[in-house]
Formats: sequence, structure tokens, C-alpha cells
Amino acid sequence: MMGKRILVTTGGGDCPGLNAVIRSIVKRASQEEDWEVLGSVDAFTGIMREPMEIMPLNRSNVAGIHVRGGTIIGTTNKGSPFDWPVKKQDGTWDTIDASDDLIRRIQCQQIDAVVNIGGDGSQDISNRLFKKGLNIIGVPKTIDNDLSCTDFTFGFQTAVEIATDAVDKLVTTAASHNRIMILEVMGRDAGWIGLSAAVAGGADVVLIPEVPYDIEKVVGKLKKRIHNGKGFAIIVVAEGAKTKEGEVVSAESSEVGYKNVRLGGIGYALMEELKKRMNGIGMRVTVLGHLQRGGTPCAFDRILATQFGVKAVELIKERKFGRMVVYRHPDIVDVALEEAVDTYNLIGPDNFLLKTARGNNISLGD
Ligand code: F6P
Repeated sequence: MMGKRILVTTGGGDCPGLNAVIRSIVKRASQEEDWEVLGSVDAFTGIMREPMEIMPLNRSNVAGIHVRGGTIIGTTNKGSPFDWPVKKQDGTWDTIDASDDLIRRIQCQQIDAVVNIGGDGSQDISNRLFKKGLNIIGVPKTIDNDLSCTDFTFGFQTAVEIATDAVDKLVTTAASHNRIMILEVMGRDAGWIGLSAAVAGGADVVLIPEVPYDIEKVVGKLKKRIHNGKGFAIIVVAEGAKTKEGEVVSAESSEVGYKNVRLGGIGYALMEELKKRMNGIGMRVTVLGHLQRGGTPCAFDRILATQFGVKAVELIKERKFGRMVVYRHPDIVDVALEEAVDTYNLIGPDNFLLKTARGNNISLGD
């Protein structure tokens, strides 16, 4: 069997488990004859840079990295190859479609296959590059768990552990001071982290993007709890939660090439609304932010990420491109990238975790 060159990229926001996938790809590829693995620094940016920034990945430089958060090859959520930022002469920025240039550069490096590890945005890029003829495999990651076709993405369980730990810690201080504690967690389109942490930690209210909330209902729940003699309450709110009028709290980003709306701040906005309606009760806000994305991946995420790495190399061996590896308990299988990027994995009205929250008197504010 002839040797192969595999290029690995990590794109979008980082999450715990990326390094475990990289290591697993390298280990599995090293079982083949003359297979070489390279990493493009900062997603596809490394390939586009002059000089190119690609690094060899081998058994020695990936040793032990499965326990480390982040990604040793770097990532970015700015600058898709289809929306590539270029500086104009007047100093302002424009975007161009640089995908043909990217594919040409990859081919010039004699690369046989690309493994693109990333979330929804990155897998949309994988799908579009595949349609242009690139041999590419997608590996899903995100703490938000909002990619469809897979039971879980890696990174999510670690984020849930971190958010649950925060709820547990807030309970003790809330109870001591008789306060309402608001914990803001990540979750742009899907409220999986918030809902999971609320159930695991036993919160009183959880607000998620999928269930628009009515502030009066939230107040009703809190007043009832306080009236029943409980002096404190815990609210978990996902950054993408919206009121029934459809308002989300966001800010514009000044970062070049950053296309996402920057969420964050709903915890404080919520506290102001509650203060107007609940006089005299102490309230505090904790924004968990990027702590949810950092640090050591939990065992579940390491295992899932390691399985994804092996599956990605197997797909390359079978020359099954345009696919994304997915977890369908207890197996790791693959689906067409096209199918994977078609919808989001959102919490539906019949979801059992949602029913569980309601069944445990956790208010969704609806
Ligand atoms: O998609 C994962 C995520 O963590 C979202 O929940 C969040 O809105 C976003 O990334 C923030 O990303 P960054 O601040 O790194 O651009």
C-alpha cells in the first residue's frame, strides 16, 4: 500500500478533546505503512499563510496530549476560506472566496485527505470543500452539543461538569446569604449545557434558547419558592436564551472576519428585570464564559474524541470522503456531511431531559 499524507485542521471555537482526536489520528495512521500526518496551524489559515504554516504531527509530539485542553495546532473562528478577509489599500477589510486557492495549495503539498475537526460552521466549510473535489472527512466538536446526527459531540460533557460544579458552589453561598444566584452558561442556539447543569445541580429556573421565557413567569416561580420558606434560588440561563418577544442580549464584534453575533450579558440583563419586580432580595450574577471550554477533558470526552480519530483514519483508508464521523451509541458510524449540516440538534418540546426538568419543578419560564 502506498504512503499517504493526511492534513488535520481544528476550526471554530476550541473545546476539550481536540488534542485527543489529533493524537488518535496520529496513532492510528502510524499503524499504516508510510502514512504521514500534518497539522495546519489555526484551521485553514496555516495553509493560506505565506510562508505556509503546517507542522508534522508524529508519535513524539502528540504523546500525552489527550489530557490537555485546547488544540496544539491552534484554531480560529475568523475567516472561512469562502469568506476570506483581505485588507484593501485604504486599510479597510473585504472578503473574497479563496476556496480554489486553498484547494490548490493543499494539492501542491501532495495531501491525500483532510480531516477537519470543528463545529457547525467548520463542517459547512468541509461540505462545500468536498463539493469542490477535496477529499475531506469531518469530525464534530462543540461544547454546545448542537450538531445533528451524533448522540453527543465531545467537549459537551466536560462543559456540563464545569457548569454543574458552578451550580453546586453557588448553592452553598446562595443559601448562606438568602440570595438569588444567576449563572450564565454558553449555548448559542441550543440549551444543552444549561438544561443539563440545571437538572444535575437542581436549579429552580433554567432559561434556554429553545423555550422563550416570560419574565413574569420567572418572577412567579421565584416568589412562590421564597413564599414557601426557601430563602434562596438558583437560575441557570444560556447565553442565547430569549424572551417571548424574541430579544437576545448580544454585542457586535470588532474582530476582523468574526461573523458570529457575540452573545453574553443576558445574566445581568435578567437580574435588572428581576430587581424591578422583586424588591429587597439580594441577587448576584456569575458568567461562566470560556471556563467551560478550557482545561482537561473528562473521560467521556477523551474516549469519544479518541474513537472519532480512529474512525476518521478508517474512512480515509476506505476512501469514503464527504462524510462526518458520528456517535450512535454504542457505535461510531459516519453520515454524509450534507446531512450533518442540514439541521441543528436543538432541544425539542418532547425531549425527555426537558420533561425531567419540568417533572422536578424546574421552571423554564414559559
Ligand atoms: O460554539 C461554542 C461557543 O462556545 C458558543 O457557545 C459561544 O457563543 C461561542 O462559542 C463563543 O466563542 P468565542 O468567544 O470563542 O468567539
